[in-house]
Amino acid sequence: MKGGNMKPTKNMIHDTVPDMLPVVPTMDIVVFPNQIVPLLVLDERIIKGINKAVEDGHKMVLLLASKKQSDTHEGIIGTKDLYDVGTVASIMRIIKVPDGGIKILAQGVARAFVHDIVAEEGVLHSDIEQVHYEEESSNTELLAQMKNIKDIAETISASGHALSPDFHIILSKMNDPEKVADFILSHLNLRVDQAQRLLECRTHRALLEELYTHLSKEFEVSEMQESIKNRARESMNSSQKEFYLREQLKAIRKELGDDEGDEIEEIRDKLSALPLSEEVRSEVNRQLNRLEKTSPDSMESSVIRNYLEWISALPWGVETKDNLNLEHAKRILDEDHYGLKDIKDRILDFISIRQLKTDGCSPILCFAGPPGTGKTSLGKSIARSLGRNFFRVSLGGVKDEAEIRGHRRTYVGAMPGRFIQGMRKAGSMNPVIMIDELDKIGADFRGDPSAAMLEVLDPQQNQSFYDNYLGVPFDLSRVIFIATANDISAISGPLRDRMEIIHLSGYTMEEKVHIARNYLAKKAINDAGLEIHPIDFNDELLGDLVQSYTRESGVRELDRLLKKLCSKAARSLVETSELISFDTDNLVKYLGPRKFLQVDTEHNSQVGITNGLAWTAYGGEMLKVEAVIMPGKGKLILTGSLGNVMRESARAALSYARTHADEFCIKPEMFTKYDLHIHVPAGATPKDGPSAGVTLLSSILSALTGRKINAQYAMTGEINLRGNVMPIGGIKEKILAAKRNAISHVILPQKNKNDLVGAEDITDGIEVIWVDHATEVINHVLMPEEKKKDGRRKK
Ligand SMILES: Nc1ncnc2c1ncn2[C@@H]1O[C@H](COP(=O)(O)OP(=O)(O)OP(=O)(O)O)[C@@H](O)[C@H]1O
Ligand SMILES: [Mg+2]
Repeated sequence: MKGGNMKPTKNMIHDTVPDMLPVVPTMDIVVFPNQIVPLLVLDERIIKGINKAVEDGHKMVLLLASKKQSDTHEGIIGTKDLYDVGTVASIMRIIKVPDGGIKILAQGVARAFVHDIVAEEGVLHSDIEQVHYEEESSNTELLAQMKNIKDIAETISASGHALSPDFHIILSKMNDPEKVADFILSHLNLRVDQAQRLLECRTHRALLEELYTHLSKEFEVSEMQESIKNRARESMNSSQKEFYLREQLKAIRKELGDDEGDEIEEIRDKLSALPLSEEVRSEVNRQLNRLEKTSPDSMESSVIRNYLEWISALPWGVETKDNLNLEHAKRILDEDHYGLKDIKDRILDFISIRQLKTDGCSPILCFAGPPGTGKTSLGKSIARSLGRNFFRVSLGGVKDEAEIRGHRRTYVGAMPGRFIQGMRKAGSMNPVIMIDELDKIGADFRGDPSAAMLEVLDPQQNQSFYDNYLGVPFDLSRVIFIATANDISAISGPLRDRMEIIHLSGYTMEEKVHIARNYLAKKAINDAGLEIHPIDFNDELLGDLVQSYTRESGVRELDRLLKKLCSKAARSLVETSELISFDTDNLVKYLGPRKFLQVDTEHNSQVGITNGLAWTAYGGEMLKVEAVIMPGKGKLILTGSLGNVMRESARAALSYARTHADEFCIKPEMFTKYDLHIHVPAGATPKDGPSAGVTLLSSILSALTGRKINAQYAMTGEINLRGNVMPIGGIKEKILAAKRNAISHVILPQKNKNDLVGAEDITDGIEVIWVDHATEVINHVLMPEEKKKDGRRKK
């Protein structure tokens, strides 16, 4: 092992190898012992040599690699072009190829050193000597080196690129350095000079070291390749990737004969044209992606489609332009409705603000009042005057919160709530939404809809109204909400608080006649197709209708009667070509007998009967309170379906009467030997509230004293035990009710006087007596004692 040259040693294993062998030069390949390679041989002399080896029986040749590459080599390879270390190979098979050459399959047997190459009888021969690895200095070093090689081979195999996984498995079972080397060599793609160097290694250690270097290089290269690939993959950014994948999906769909893809594209295009917010857009994209992945026939697909359909049908960003012309608005409001000054003013205020400031919240109004006073129809005409779209949501009887907020999409047949449905119908972000019958909203186990209404009607919250079905916020802040209610006390406090409440108190008889003449009659005539043969409804006839056929706060019944008359006229015109002219005499023929007879309003004063005034959701009402006494034990009997508060008022009134018995000359035994019965007729209708205090007291005192109560008076007011008259609600309604009943005087609590500020004309045609104390009431209504003919006091 001294010096640079390899020192030949006798090979112990292959001692059958002759000393002289035919030489087979190889191009571009170094064959190692244990390797089997096919070689093509074309040169005559070499073929001869091979044939000779076969003839000699040992079938062995010496394979010597050429120092030059086949692509740079020109001419015949000379002996000086060959390396002087080669491999002895045994010929396993020879196949003749058609154009004169042969193909041999050779297996490497041993390494050999070339002494001299000679040409003999046209055959190249070489004198050889086998080479053997020198003895190793340290076995452990060798083992460590082997382990290194196995490890690196394993990593390369695991990366799955340069070497196959089996490579590592086979290698891990090998222990002989030579075998390991040969095995690895057969898998590595080495240049000839590199391979030759390996072949010439003198020790196992040098061989393994050399191999390790090659494997490390191989590893580095494969790492490098991998990282370049990764970088290339990353640089294809996600949108490109998505595009690429989508195109692929489309192609697959097309291949499957599935036109679903186009449809989804259509939906996608449609949605991408909408001015959606970030949040909505990302939800929409999420759903679109889900839709693409689901089978078109599946339930889920139809749910998603339905959802996307809803999203695309909503009026995102669409707004109608408000008509902010005050004159125009005023004209339209007056055209549709008579009176209702407060409401009309409020709308004109709003329009004025809009002229000065184009953004800002829209008002949330609540019209409260008895039926038929024009609340619903006003909403429509407000929309008309502003040039906004209009829709009506009726909440009467709604008990399920989902009606307002929508169902979650997970439910089969889920739908958005009524507001989102309405927005779709309205087709703009700024319609007028009429929330009808807000006071009749219910609540049950399915949740409390009025809680959901809080969100709708809160200007702070409704710009991101959340519907369960949509699952994304929707802006309701540009909507003008108009709620209507008959009884605002039935609306929950927080909800009431969010709205601007405008009271409508019903119409007086004159107003009704006016409305009938200028509005209702015209509409009724139009509806019956009688424009060219108009019917004349004179004021006397209309007054009769109001007084004798309807007794209501609003004008709905009146409207109905006018329509009925018009339809009678139409029928007569068609049947007999004659137009009826209506008058107070022939009304009975068409409308039946009068419901409210004049006698009713004549008012006979009687003992124990007082006209009380009550307020209901249907407007004011007059009801009579009756009291009688009968022999008994001083019991108080209350009938007529009276509520607790009213029962207590009756007790308080009785106590007051008892403490002041002297003033009215009532004997004490009247309270012990007689029973007092108080009844409020229309017994089936529940009545409650404290406002009947003065009425109850009047009836009680009348019954106990036997003095009549003046029937021209009607009254209302709560009293306490000291007889003070306290304020009550619904003053206007009550005055109107008294007027409807042809009462000449009303007695009202002094403390309610302010309620009439701005509406003083409501008291036209009726005298109002403002009182502070019960004695004032009694002084007015309790008539002087009547002497009977026999001179005895009447009981
Ligand atoms: N001031 C008015 N001028 C002209 N028409 C009126 C007026 N008030 C009411 N009307 C008419 O009376 C009819 C009934 O009114 P509407 O339906 O608006 O009542 P409402 O207040 O909504 O009642 P409800 O509380 O029962 O819902 C409508 O045809 C309406 O046009
Ligand atoms: Mg209504």
